[in-house]
Amino acid sequence: MRLDKFLAEVGLGSRKEVKQLIKKGQITVNQQVEKSDKKQVDPEKDSIVFQGEPLHYQEFYYYLLHKPAGVVSATEDNRDQTVMDLFSASDYRSDLFPVGRLDKDTEGLLLITNDGQLAHELLSPKKHVEKEYFAEVDGVMTAEDQKCFVAGITLDGELTLPAELLIDETTEEKSKVRIILHEGKFHQVKRMVKACGKEVAYLKRIRMGNLALPKDLDKGNYRPLTEDELRGLKG
Ligand code: URA
Repeated sequence: MRLDKFLAEVGLGSRKEVKQLIKKGQITVNQQVEKSDKKQVDPEKDSIVFQGEPLHYQEFYYYLLHKPAGVVSATEDNRDQTVMDLFSASDYRSDLFPVGRLDKDTEGLLLITNDGQLAHELLSPKKHVEKEYFAEVDGVMTAEDQKCFVAGITLDGELTLPAELLIDETTEEKSKVRIILHEGKFHQVKRMVKACGKEVAYLKRIRMGNLALPKDLDKGNYRPLTEDELRGLKG
């Protein structure tokens, strides 16, 4: 890889900015000042240093974000704040994207990465990666509804895969439930609950595969996946 590409990839600046740093002699490659931006470097083997700091190349980035309501799961939007706007300037990269979508008013766990292959695998209906949601529902969800979820519910002429409905709490008018899906159809939780004659009032994704929303990750915050979390996701 060319030295200027490497420096831009590790986030030292734009291609133009890093060329200036190289010209000024601020970059060393294997302890030698390197003044050619075309210098070929091997990110695995070469020691590349800027102002005493060794630079490490990372191809893929994985973040776990606690999405708040009011932001959209997109990389760009003309009207609304996007999940990418929650990233700091130093963590932001233009190739990051959210894996799947949560509705604008849905909160909770969203994986952000630049690893297209992993995203594809996690979203593939064939992989059946579990997505668990917590929902507050207007209306009382029943054992009958649980059976419907397991049998599958027809949405726009298509039967959903069997889903689980766990009823945590009910009052005379409301329910707190958890719903586990193995696919991700458009507005799926809201539509399945509606098919049972009730309405989702609040929705939060709390798990995707082995990846649970950490209790100490505040809304609007994100952190890199741990190695264990990443290994678990990749299966
Ligand atoms: N199901 C929904 O209805 N909305 C979401 O955001 C996610 C799942």
